[in-house]
Amino acid sequence: MKFFIDTADLEQIKEANDLGILDGVTTNPSLMAKVGIKGHKAVVKHYKTICEIVDGDISAEVVSTDFNGMVEEGKKLAAIHKNIVVKIPMIKDGVKAIKWFTDNGIRTNCTLVFSAGQAILAAKAGAAYVSPFIGRIDDSGWEGIQLISQIAEIYTIQGYDTEILAASIRNSNHIIQCAEAGADVVTSPLEPILGLLKHPLTDIGLAKFLEDAKKFA
Ligand code: E4P
Repeated sequence: MKFFIDTADLEQIKEANDLGILDGVTTNPSLMAKVGIKGHKAVVKHYKTICEIVDGDISAEVVSTDFNGMVEEGKKLAAIHKNIVVKIPMIKDGVKAIKWFTDNGIRTNCTLVFSAGQAILAAKAGAAYVSPFIGRIDDSGWEGIQLISQIAEIYTIQGYDTEILAASIRNSNHIIQCAEAGADVVTSPLEPILGLLKHPLTDIGLAKFLEDAKKFA
């Protein structure tokens, strides 16, 4: 399973990248706004910087919601760097746009996916990635991780090439569950990634080893 970081914060991207396990980055308009990016020039500059930090796929989301707008915006985003993947919402015009990008050699990430039916449409249109939002499904009282298993099973049976990019990760356990459920990629904020490092027995064990090491130093 590949690890992407779900943020537009350059410091957090650098920290995850320095860990040596980062395969890519996902952003969305809310994450870009959170770090104060405003205007086309700033957006382009920010994506260029991210592409310089991380050698992997970088998802950049369109804000248009009509077919022509998404195509025009997506072409500009894709032109920023060869690693940019155009992120398109799961709406009718979005599916048409994904198909257009597929036919024109531009990779897409279909976002805001909450059902197996949506995931089938994304795969049929040729999306490189499909992003089921498991945390938001949990928030609404359902089991988000079940959707990952269901999509994984369908994609295996049907032989779809689209990669399952589990999104809306809220904690470290989500990452483990995604690995078990067959996600190809997990995109997570920094904290749940760093949370995977932690175990109290590791800390206790290390403290004891360091204490005993003093005896023969
Ligand atoms: C996916 O690519 C989205 O950026 C993201 O995972 C949304 O997560 P949220 O539900 O924490 O906003």
